[in-house]
Amino acid sequence: MRIDVYFTPLGLNAGDLTGRAVVVVDVLRASTTVITALANGAKAVIPAATAEEAVRLASNLEKDGVVLAGERKSLKIEGFALGNSPREMTAAAVGGKTIVLATTNGTPALVATQGGDPVLVGAPANFKALVARARAALEQRGELVVMCAGRDKQFAAEDGYTAGRLIKAVKKGIRKVGLNDGATAALAFTDAFATWTEALESSEAAHQLAEAGLAEDVRFAATPDRFTVVPNYADRRIT
Ligand code: MLT
Repeated sequence: MRIDVYFTPLGLNAGDLTGRAVVVVDVLRASTTVITALANGAKAVIPAATAEEAVRLASNLEKDGVVLAGERKSLKIEGFALGNSPREMTAAAVGGKTIVLATTNGTPALVATQGGDPVLVGAPANFKALVARARAALEQRGELVVMCAGRDKQFAAEDGYTAGRLIKAVKKGIRKVGLNDGATAALAFTDAFATWTEALESSEAAHQLAEAGLAEDVRFAATPDRFTVVPNYADRRIT
């Protein structure tokens, strides 16, 4: 068995993940937001690589049933109904709706994993349920890819830490699991922090959110196991 971690989707070529089991992680905030939206009754989330693509995808859907959401530099995109805060994804705002979401790093990373099977969306917010699903996928497929969205084409601490915690939990009790260097580094990184909160709050993304007045989102994202949903991205929709 084997687990690979990629700290950004940059090195991927089209088709690299076809048929492979993948977990996508963008803790601050896209994966936390997707999990929260689906847990609160959204019908689906459609990730878009750009704001323009989001508008185009939304225009092909029933107007009443669609909500445009997304951020640039952490703030809501002009003309969109929602930003990318998990706290905005209330049942009243997203229940029964299809959310078309465009974020800086998270949704491009999701789009890059097209063809993976399954493509699970993970964060501390659904950690326990995610570990069970990821372990089942590893046992079934013999391999697992953890795709971190990263930040501005670089390593992001909150994603790397979550990848490490995930590997540690998923491989528990399995005798032999091969790791790529990214996975070895992610595992070692779990010793750098004592808690989810410490890891997330140390990150550059958390500092940017705090500067934008969104520190509460970091606290939201650092609370593990809020939800038991494990979103799955298939046929361009996350459900
Ligand atoms: C991203 O996709 O880069 C993030 O989710 C950014 C954010 O929400 O501020």
